[in-house]
Amino acid sequence: MMTMTEQRHVKTEAATPIRALPDAQTVTAVHHYTDDLFSFRVTRPASLRFRSGEFVMIGLMGDNGKPLLRAYSIASPSWDEELQFYSIKVQDGPLTSKLQHIKPGDQVILRPKPVGTLVHDALLPGKRIWFFATGTGIAPYASLLREPETYERFDEVILTHTCRDVAELKFGEELIAETLVDPLVGDEARQKLRYVATTTREKSPLMGRITTLLQDGTLFEKLGITDFGPETDRAMVCGSIGLNNDLKAILEGHGLKEGANSDPGAFVVEKAFVG
Ligand code: A2P
Repeated sequence: MMTMTEQRHVKTEAATPIRALPDAQTVTAVHHYTDDLFSFRVTRPASLRFRSGEFVMIGLMGDNGKPLLRAYSIASPSWDEELQFYSIKVQDGPLTSKLQHIKPGDQVILRPKPVGTLVHDALLPGKRIWFFATGTGIAPYASLLREPETYERFDEVILTHTCRDVAELKFGEELIAETLVDPLVGDEARQKLRYVATTTREKSPLMGRITTLLQDGTLFEKLGITDFGPETDRAMVCGSIGLNNDLKAILEGHGLKEGANSDPGAFVVEKAFVG
């Protein structure tokens, strides 16, 4: 014979619905920048703590009933009550062909286990920090630029963003404008932050791959920097595999050594999500 309490307990268990989406979060906003780029905001799991620059796995339930997840850098500051992400749209991409259609109120899967190498812990102290980005590789810096530690640790903060076309620079332009008036870091950012935007396929005030501009001296000349090297400079790199490899070689050529969470160094590299 069951007691009344046991009966109630059994009933409650049987009535508990199986959650359709494990780790479900609700979309709160979506902004489309171009036919190929969009950003979205989702609710933040109450328990989620992350270091600026880290990524989490995000996705949707696939047609086969299994979660389809990809690594997405968190683009919002660590104190924000929501989470923001910046994504490419690949029309035949398994995830982004669907994800690009999300609307406020929809649910996405978010595994609340942030990881990544583009974090302050992986860099030794220095005078200048360079945030090198191409395309959606700017996302982790959208968090790091609004992180007070960035300005506590460095005298100069330089964001470079290279895209094919001018319209693709918009996310970065808005980020810089917001950072300069940010209540938390705005004062420091106005003194320390410098922004270099370049395009490679459409005409703009500064054209060329960042690798070329570094190697031919244009970038240093433009910024008035004459002492780039392992004593003063720290860098984070986030773009395509080609960009990452080429920039890594250039930084190593200047004597900078790659770091990791367990062994801080002068620069760190992470692949921007594509697809
Ligand atoms: P480019 O137009 O000369 O290829 P993508 O959309 O292919 O990821 O490229 C984003 C930006 O990164 C483009 O401006 C592209 O320049 C640039 N880029 C791609 N590969 C490299 C690389 N290996 N070194 C420097 N810049 C790169």
